[in-house]
Amino acid sequence: MNRTHNNGQLRIENIGEVVELKGWVAKKRNLGSLVFIDLRDRYGITQIILNESMEELGREIKNEFILHVVGKVIERTSKNPNMPTGDIEIEAHAINIINTANVTPLIIADETDALEETRLAYRYLDLRRPVLQKKLMLRHEITKSVRRYLDDLDFVDVETPVFNKSTPEGARDFLVPSRVHPGQFYALPQSPQLFKQLLMVAGFEKYYQIAKCFRDEDLRADRQIEFTQVDVEMSFMSTDEILSIGEGLMSKIMKDVKGIDLELPLPRLTWHESMERFGIDKPDTRFGLELVNLNETVKDVDFMVFKNALDNNGYVKGINVIGQAGNYSRKALDKLTDIAKTYKAKGLAWLKVENGVATGPIAKFFDEQQMTRLLHKMEANDNDLLLFVGDPSYDVVCDSLAALRNHLGKELSLYDPETYAFLWVVDFPMFEYDQETARYYAKHHPFTRPLDDHIDLIESDPANCLADAYDIVLNGFELGGGSQRIYEQSLQERAFKALGFSEEQIKEQFGFFVDAFQYGTPPHGGFALGLDRIAMLLTGSDSLRDVIAFPKNASATCPMSKAPGDVSVEQLEELGICIKGDHHE
Ligand code: AMO
Ligand code: AMP
Repeated sequence: MNRTHNNGQLRIENIGEVVELKGWVAKKRNLGSLVFIDLRDRYGITQIILNESMEELGREIKNEFILHVVGKVIERTSKNPNMPTGDIEIEAHAINIINTANVTPLIIADETDALEETRLAYRYLDLRRPVLQKKLMLRHEITKSVRRYLDDLDFVDVETPVFNKSTPEGARDFLVPSRVHPGQFYALPQSPQLFKQLLMVAGFEKYYQIAKCFRDEDLRADRQIEFTQVDVEMSFMSTDEILSIGEGLMSKIMKDVKGIDLELPLPRLTWHESMERFGIDKPDTRFGLELVNLNETVKDVDFMVFKNALDNNGYVKGINVIGQAGNYSRKALDKLTDIAKTYKAKGLAWLKVENGVATGPIAKFFDEQQMTRLLHKMEANDNDLLLFVGDPSYDVVCDSLAALRNHLGKELSLYDPETYAFLWVVDFPMFEYDQETARYYAKHHPFTRPLDDHIDLIESDPANCLADAYDIVLNGFELGGGSQRIYEQSLQERAFKALGFSEEQIKEQFGFFVDAFQYGTPPHGGFALGLDRIAMLLTGSDSLRDVIAFPKNASATCPMSKAPGDVSVEQLEELGICIKGDHHE
């Protein structure tokens, strides 16, 4: 029953050997009385020839049958340089059909036109496609690399519970009803945050875990409801030391998996600089098109949109799309305007510079001096296209221009898709003000430590209080984030107070956690990297679904298992749960 080789292994040197192969029939072709079969396993494809005497067997064999082939390696007359085994083929002596297969609902090949619903419904067949197998194997290489790196640095892998109290990452929890305690619920962890900090209290000093996390969020290409973090925490380390371990880890992964040497240390941008220059806290730094702040430059320009923005403490910012004036028609500019509008901008103003003169709907609002000042500030030259958004809200200006910038970078192919631009974004704000509820929320989580010289701003100026928190960003995606944590009880109380937590709320939500901190808590901090996102970017995939074996679709269901599904009345009764009539599907 043994095979002598796999299907990706045989080369010209093997000619003359009698071999035994096993695998799936990827393709069958008839050439006169000869039958050619491509035999596939996870290692590759080998061509098998059946001679005239096997004609009947050849007719019986269909795609995806599993065969055991005994035969001789011979040189191909017409070689295939695109296949590692393309110099040889196997002249079959005997073929045993190990198993048959029905016609598959999707074609098992790298290129498929099957709908994603079909692919996910028959995921085990989809996963037979070599391209997906390669992606999952690359993911495995990443995991191996992570473990090797952290093990060598003395980190201890500790598992933490999945059945929990609610954790503070700020998304919605998944709840699991308790049978033993009817009416009570466990929450699935949004991350192991509380437990990894408790492991620091316990004295482990260096912890890691490749941990499943669960967040009840709306799905996107880079978001699943369950995902995997490389979760890390350490005691007695400065922020520089923590970042050096984080980027060392990414550098090890890039070397092991892609053979790329990352230049360390990675660039660092403060959150503020990132917002100013790119309008976003996860900038794609593979290309320019940076945002230009025009508040000073246009302050006396008589254009209502800009005036209204500035009169309301808002912003006017622009992007110089260098050399593109000729390539954007009215229609193309309308499309850009629509993009700006999806991010709540009320419009998009533009100018084209031609023969030293700027033209466009807003040109008339500028006198000569104002226009000279604008073009100078925008570093504009002939054939440049200038785009502007003004709004009373900083977020609207940033969001809409950042979205345009990313769109243009892609549309104009301003970067090589094979490059990897990593950076740290550091010094995030501690708090985020919410207009609707008129209160501050933790931008990261409530245990994030302020920068040392910002501690007193917690009370005096929370809006400008910066945290010792950081994100690692790759090509416009947030790969991971973390922070130094608060370890002193008195400081934690001040942070809770600023967040408007009452004593009871603190006790109820974080009682066990806060209690633990009275017994000698070391200074500690850490980070978590999104393993799925790393795998998505390193495999050049557009979606996390390509690097997760059994993902959920965009509406958070599994077309294969049909989860989520109904449960029996008995199960519900045991849990003391009754479903409201209008929630029955
Ligand atoms: P954070 O919430 O930033 O931090 O998560 C860390 C990283 O996890 C990934 N991620 C996701 N990936 C796929 N689908 C999702 N729904 C999803 N949500 C997050 C991202 C993100 O950067 N406990 C803190 C870390 C810390 O402070 O140490 C935390 O969870 O890549
Ligand atoms: P209007 O005077 O309303 O015709 O607007 C002149 C130009 O300003 C149009 O091209 C609008 O798309 C653009 N515009 C409108 N609102 C904004 C805004 N908030 N920021 C930038 N441009 C805008």
